[in-house]
Amino acid sequence: MATPAPDRPDEPRLLDRFGRVATDLRVSLTDRCNLRCTYCMPAEGLDWMPRGEMLSDGELARLIRIAVELLGVTNVRFTGGEPTLRKGIESIIAGTAALVPRPRISMTTNAIGLARSAGRLVGAGLDRINVSLDTLRQERFLALTRRDRLDDVLDGLAAARDAGLTPVKVNAVLVRGRNDDEAVALLRYCLEQGYELRFIEQMPLDAQHGWDRADMVTAEEILTALRAEFDLVPSPVPRGAAPAERWQVDGGPGEVGVIASVTRPFCGDCDRTRLTADGQLRSCLFSQTETDLRAPLRAGAGDEEIAGLWRTAMWGKLAGHTINEAGFAQPLRPMSAIGG
Ligand code: 5AD
Ligand code: SF4
Repeated sequence: MATPAPDRPDEPRLLDRFGRVATDLRVSLTDRCNLRCTYCMPAEGLDWMPRGEMLSDGELARLIRIAVELLGVTNVRFTGGEPTLRKGIESIIAGTAALVPRPRISMTTNAIGLARSAGRLVGAGLDRINVSLDTLRQERFLALTRRDRLDDVLDGLAAARDAGLTPVKVNAVLVRGRNDDEAVALLRYCLEQGYELRFIEQMPLDAQHGWDRADMVTAEEILTALRAEFDLVPSPVPRGAAPAERWQVDGGPGEVGVIASVTRPFCGDCDRTRLTADGQLRSCLFSQTETDLRAPLRAGAGDEEIAGLWRTAMWGKLAGHTINEAGFAQPLRPMSAIGG
């Protein structure tokens, strides 16, 4: 049995020392991707996880069930890499949707292939979606992602909306000198299409370790660019544990969000717990340590034992990331192997 931390109260949920309770589980279904975004991975891709190290669909389903039934998780988000590259995604979603109480189910994706699969994913139980889209210009999309797939992404987005996913959120990362002049055009497009746009400050999570603070386009810069064209008023909707600060655009109902992970960290309100495709638990994107759930799972551990390991891991969650402190060290695992 896992030894519970002596100072931890006897509480089934995923509590930490700072009073936060994790109810949002992010599950990375694969570290593979069909794009090669320059701020994420090198052109040649990465050494992908060997299949045998990845959790099987059944193992994943069991961990998700434990999270929902024993640990109080209410939201499950599937991420990657690119989660739609995982063959079993529909049945994994369907299994998650059958849990009681049924969690809200979302997915972070680049939308490639969604034009064909959105209806099936919604049929399986998908409720919400976040699509990565950094530019509306074909040549820039190719330069930023090293793949000529802009039309597939735009078609995928439309298919997601038409399949009834609400809201359809769009995540955009601005990269200095590449697409940092596109904030206004992206917002205009998303307002027209009925998508909720959120800009994300670039974080030091790339596989190449090439992040440079001076290169990062800040929330302040993005807001300044948007204010030149739009009237922005803070959204009346309470933020809660959501990472985005939101603004109503030109009197609403359209809104725009900015996720200022670096310049205005929101770690104090974080409600997330993360599971990698190879069964490692992370209490934070920036964790330097992981808790292995795959080995106990494969050694025959019971549900309560796994739940105990999970509780102990989350009890040790740090107060926040230290990107803005001297001596910050980037985690060994890149974003593509953790999930957004
Ligand atoms: N910093 C910020 N956002 C990133 N994403 C990927 N890498 C980074 C990074 N280093 C975005 C993707 C996707 C979401 C999961 O995170 O564009 O939308
Ligand atoms: Fe793929 Fe997302 Fe990384 Fe782009 S940011 S290469 S879409 S995992």
